[in-house]
Amino acid sequence: MLAAYSHGSTQGGSTALPWQQQLKTVLGTGKAPPPGPIQSISFSPNIPPFERPFRPMQVLPSQPVGSQLDGYSMTMQKNRVEILPGKQTEVWTYNGQLPGPLIRQTKNHGSVVRFINQLGKDEQGQDIHSTIHLHGVASLPQYDGYAEDLIPPQHYKDYYYPNDKAASFWYHDHVIEHTARNVYMGLAGMYIVDYDDEDFVDPTVKDQLPQAEYDIPLIIQDKRITPDGELVFNDRGRSGVYGDVVLVNGVPSPRLEVKNRRYRFRVLNGGVSRTLNLAARVKHGDGSLEPIHLQVIASDSGLLSEPISTPSLRIGVAERYEFVLDFADYAGKEILLVNPVFFGNLDGNLRTTELMCFQVAGGAQDNPPLPKKLGILTPIETLLSEVKGPVRTFRFDRLGGVSLINGKAWDPNRVDAFVEPCATERWRFISTGGWVHPIHVHLGHFRLIGRSRTPIAAYERGMKDTFFVNDWETVEMIGRFGPHEGKYMMHCHNLVHEDHDMMTQFQVGTRGCPPCAEPAKPLPAPANFDLPQCVPPKECMA
Ligand code: C2O
Ligand code: CU
Repeated sequence: MLAAYSHGSTQGGSTALPWQQQLKTVLGTGKAPPPGPIQSISFSPNIPPFERPFRPMQVLPSQPVGSQLDGYSMTMQKNRVEILPGKQTEVWTYNGQLPGPLIRQTKNHGSVVRFINQLGKDEQGQDIHSTIHLHGVASLPQYDGYAEDLIPPQHYKDYYYPNDKAASFWYHDHVIEHTARNVYMGLAGMYIVDYDDEDFVDPTVKDQLPQAEYDIPLIIQDKRITPDGELVFNDRGRSGVYGDVVLVNGVPSPRLEVKNRRYRFRVLNGGVSRTLNLAARVKHGDGSLEPIHLQVIASDSGLLSEPISTPSLRIGVAERYEFVLDFADYAGKEILLVNPVFFGNLDGNLRTTELMCFQVAGGAQDNPPLPKKLGILTPIETLLSEVKGPVRTFRFDRLGGVSLINGKAWDPNRVDAFVEPCATERWRFISTGGWVHPIHVHLGHFRLIGRSRTPIAAYERGMKDTFFVNDWETVEMIGRFGPHEGKYMMHCHNLVHEDHDMMTQFQVGTRGCPPCAEPAKPLPAPANFDLPQCVPPKECMA
């Protein structure tokens, strides 16, 4: 559908400087200081894989607030956990847990979540600020975790979420300049809004998908650890943080006993920079490994239209996929979830290849077939016919430890795109170098329509909010911007790039609440949740 792309500057008319020149100009202003010296890389102690039990996420309990809302509370605090056998590792957590507790919600039942900052100070003696972004959800601007809407230590903020869309979302820290460190230290967790009948082409198939104990969320994160168990945050001159110990739900390469039936896994790449490429292998008696396919059923923000069978599933930072694995034929065997070396990562350490082991037991009572049709997607042609304005182009430039968008660094006082409420727009992302950039656009749910260098994978054709752009690649997406008005961020989700300084903002309409309209308040917090103060304009229908 898309013609070939040129890799040069495609906007700004003839006065635009070449992007390298723009970079130099920005560097010259001192807006983006160059990084410090590059630390050398040390390897973590070897942790034998598949020896430690899998840890399911704990569901966070709620209390009713009136008849329409569920109230939750999470305290951000330091804790010590065991990652390296016999050692204690300091992590920064929600409620002491790594990863954070799981919020599991019913669609169209709102949440109010109180986040209390008890993180104190970092090693340099600086206050650890926070802000919370619920990634993939169209929140009002003041509840979207704007990078400058800080929760200082000894403060709290109540965030309101509508839960009007079902999918596997996640919450994480989003503080200006320190998102990479804060997420790496542990500030991330999953937030699932369950699909209801309306999400399916045929509601009768909903219950055929694996549920309850057969529906398992997984957060995959790579860390680097000293022999004493301390986490090492090394951003390699602001290029990326790559660990050589892979945690699944906080446990290095765990083992899970499963029954001989279908399971559904909701997987999030919750790392800082590392791209994952998941695959499954059956281990035979002679030690040989045989590939088996994953059946992908959902992408970032919703169900696919049909299950997609694939031998491997690429997951960039912040992307989510739901897939089904059928263990029916493998009673008595081990199935390995693996992550073969991917050359787009700066560090292809072989120890990141073994993610998890499923030990298949017998005893399944039933194994409903996978439905042939799943969700309802708007045809791309319909979306294309709604686009009124020109394609917007965003160039992701990286040179000498500085990452910019269209030659510009983050500036909270500048808006780079003004979008009509509920407009359907077509956006183009260009990587102008040898870097993979996972691009996340807040507020909306979008569709991938073109890649210049690699084919679109069939599982990428669903609803998405994060799109990886390969080195030297151009990617196009399309979608409706709403239902809220206001300022929203867009950035690279390699969190080191985001922090320095590959982030910008767009503004939908003119009437939205300012992103800092509901500032954090000092502790002690009152018993009741704070009521929203800013009244948003009437929503458009996105
Ligand atoms: Cu997952 Cu703007 O972030
Ligand atoms: Cu990037």
